[in-house]
Amino acid sequence: MTIYGPSREEDLLEAWQHAKGIQDIYNKYEMPNFVSDNMIALNRSLSFVHDRKFFQTFQEFAADDADFAKLWRLHTYCWAGRSALSVDGDFVECGVYKGFYSSVLVRYLSFADIPRQMYLYDTFEGLPEAQSSAQERLATNPYYDWEGTHDEVVKRFADFPNVHVIKGTVPEILEQRSPARIALLHLDMNAAMAETGALDLLFDRVSDGGIVLMDDFGRYDLPGLFGALYNWMLDRGCPVLELPTGQGLVIKRARRPG
Ligand SMILES: C[S@@+](CC[C@H](N)C(=O)[O-])C[C@H]1O[C@@H](n2cnc3c(N)ncnc32)[C@H](O)[C@@H]1O
Repeated sequence: MTIYGPSREEDLLEAWQHAKGIQDIYNKYEMPNFVSDNMIALNRSLSFVHDRKFFQTFQEFAADDADFAKLWRLHTYCWAGRSALSVDGDFVECGVYKGFYSSVLVRYLSFADIPRQMYLYDTFEGLPEAQSSAQERLATNPYYDWEGTHDEVVKRFADFPNVHVIKGTVPEILEQRSPARIALLHLDMNAAMAETGALDLLFDRVSDGGIVLMDDFGRYDLPGLFGALYNWMLDRGCPVLELPTGQGLVIKRARRPG
């Protein structure tokens, strides 16, 4: 169970104990519950747990508590990928780290058998100074270890000739190599400048009906990121659905007259 927020350890422990108490009560009555990733959902169907291919793939690739906490976010991502197959275009992920999300997605969709490409972009060295604020770097960089991740991620996708692992800084790298038409755009760089920079370059290439998923849209501890993405989408007349997971979801619709 992953709960974060209060900076005082005693307060965090107390919040965790309350959450655990709620979970124990629902477990006693064998009622489904999801208590993790700062989210408490009670008596929900949790249908994704019964999607065997999804759940088995998730369990195979989740390496630690932080990954396991992201079950619902992965469900959203896999839903988005599956839905995006009904429109033209390739898949793009900006912010890959060790390739956890993308590993689950491509296996869930059996992506090697699909005539599309997936482009995975990361510095594989953390948030670059030129494309992030000091606050964003402080909120993210200490929690990750990028040593050797590029080579690991390349190996991870060796069985997927249509998945391209690209080392470079977003948005600059996108000018050198990125697809002309996009069905799914996933942004997970925890940095406002980088994510809006990616949108500046790629959003026009997202197909009508294509999906933009922003992993940290609703994060209260990254207000700059929320404000930048919210306003960027508002300016284009695209309302963002804020999900309880913290993800933000946009289904792009071409503007129709009237
Ligand atoms: C939260 S992690 C991504 C997690 C990933 N989606 C997963 O499946 O676990 C954020 C990643 O974004 C990358 N990143 C941040 N800013 C970037 C930028 N401007 N260009 C490229 N990569 C960037 C970092 O190196 C880091 O690996």
